[in-house]
Amino acid sequence: MAFPKDFYWGGATAANQLEGAWNEDGKGIACPDICTGGSANTSKRITPEIKEGIFYPSHQAIDHYHRYKEDIKLFAEMGFKMYRFSISWTRIFPNGDEKEPNEKGLQFYDRLIDECLKYNIEPMITISHYEVPFGLTKKFNAWVSREMIDCYLNYCRAIFTRYKGKVKYWLTFNEINSATTPVGGFLNQGILNEIKEMEFMNQVDIPQNRFQGLHHQFVASALAVKLAHEIDENYQVGCMNIMATSYPLTCKPADVLYNQKQSQIMNWFCSDVQCRGKYPNYIHRYFKENNIEIHMKDNDEQILKEGCVDFYTCSYYMSNCQTSDPEKQILGKGNLLGGVPNPYLKASDWGWQIDPEGLRFSLNEIWDRYQLPVFVVENGLGAYDKIEEDGSIQDDYRINYLKSHIEQMHEAILDGVNLKGYTPWGCIDLVSASTGEMRKRYGFIYVEKYDDGSGDFSRRKKKSFYWYKKLIETNGEDL
Ligand code: BG6
Repeated sequence: MAFPKDFYWGGATAANQLEGAWNEDGKGIACPDICTGGSANTSKRITPEIKEGIFYPSHQAIDHYHRYKEDIKLFAEMGFKMYRFSISWTRIFPNGDEKEPNEKGLQFYDRLIDECLKYNIEPMITISHYEVPFGLTKKFNAWVSREMIDCYLNYCRAIFTRYKGKVKYWLTFNEINSATTPVGGFLNQGILNEIKEMEFMNQVDIPQNRFQGLHHQFVASALAVKLAHEIDENYQVGCMNIMATSYPLTCKPADVLYNQKQSQIMNWFCSDVQCRGKYPNYIHRYFKENNIEIHMKDNDEQILKEGCVDFYTCSYYMSNCQTSDPEKQILGKGNLLGGVPNPYLKASDWGWQIDPEGLRFSLNEIWDRYQLPVFVVENGLGAYDKIEEDGSIQDDYRINYLKSHIEQMHEAILDGVNLKGYTPWGCIDLVSASTGEMRKRYGFIYVEKYDDGSGDFSRRKKKSFYWYKKLIETNGEDL
C-alpha cells in the first residue's frame, strides 16, 4: 500500500497547547491563558482575571518554547516531511491591536521555522488556532466587531512578510466551523458575551454574535488569501474545518433530511464560503429561522469572491448520528459536536466515536464538492497512557486507531481523492483544547507533565513513535 511519492507525512500542534512561556518576551494574554483545567466530566472554567493559586494549563503547557529544538529533532527522527503548528498571535501583537509587531515574538518563529527547514520539514502554519488576544475580547468582544479584520490583517502582514521564502502553506483559522456551535464562540472567536467567570462548556451564547463573527472571519480570511498572494506568489492559503461526519440515525426520510440540514450548517457552510467565494443558498433559511441577520458592507461579496482558498484541510476524529426525533437528541459525551451515538461504533475514553470509514466517506465528499487539494491536518486518539516498569509506553490502541484511519485515507486516494498530506494531532503530548488536561494524550512522544502541575517536562518515545517512523520510511507500505 504505497502513498503518492510526495505525500506529506507529519504531525500537528497549536501554540497555546504546547509552547508555555505564556508571558515571556513580551507575549500578551490570549483567551486560553484565562482557562483553568477540567476533565472528561468537569468543564474547565473561564476566569476573566488570572487568579493566584489556580493552575492554568497553557501557562507552562509542555514548555516547547524552550525545548523546540529537542522536539523538532524528535520529529525529524520520525521522518516528518511536514509540521503543522500555529503562531501565537499575542507573541506578535500582545494586545492584538498594536501597530508594530513584537520583535522578540517574531524571532522565536524565525528560530522555529529555521529548525524545521534544517531537517527539510515543510512548515504549515495556522495563523489563528484557538487563541484570540484577550485584549481584543475586552476591547470589542473580538470577532463580533468588524475592527478585528484590520487587526488580523496587520498580524498577517507581519508574518507573511517576515517568513517569506521560508514558508509555503498557511491556514487562516483553525476549525473555523466550530463557531457554528456555542462552544466555538469563545474557543475560536474569543467572544465572551458577559465578562464573568463561567464554565467553558456552558457559555452565555448569542448565535447572532457567532454568525456575525463568522462573517468577519470570512472577510478577513479572503483578504488574507489576497494579501498572501500579493506578498509571495508561492504562498498557498487553505481553510481548516472540523469534519464532523454524520449519518442519519435511521433510513427514515425525516432523519435523512434532518442529517442533511445539520451537516450543511456544521460541515459545509464555512468551507462553501471559503472555497466557493459566496454564501450558499441553504444558509438564508437557517438565518431566518434563527433570527440571525448578517451585516455586510457593500464590497464584502466581491471580497469573498476574490479570496477563495487554494486548498482544503480538515481535522477528523469521530462521527455521530442525527435524528429528527427530539427525544433521542441527546448530547454525545465529551465532544463539541453533539449528535447521537452510533450503535455500530466504539468510542474513546472521552466518548468520541471511532470511525475510520467515515474519513474515507468524508474525503470523497470534500473532493467531489470542491476539487481542491486536500490535507488531513488533525486526527488521533486522546487516551490514557501508562509508563511500564521498564519505562516503555505500549500504546497499541493509538497505533490501531491511526493505522485504521491511514488505511481509509489510502482507499480514498484510490477512489480518486487528491489527498496531499496527513499531520496527526498532538504528535507530542500537549494540553487538551476541550478539557485542558494533560492526561488526554495524543502523542508519539510522551511528556512528563501532569494535571496537578507536576512533572519535569522530559520527553520519552512511545511504541507508536517507532511505528510511525517505519510507516514514513516506507511511505505507508509498512503499516
Ligand atoms: C481540535 C483542535 O478540535 O481537536 C485541537 O484543533 C484539539 O486544538 C484537538 O486539541 C483535540 O481535541 P482535545 O479537546 O482532545 O484537545
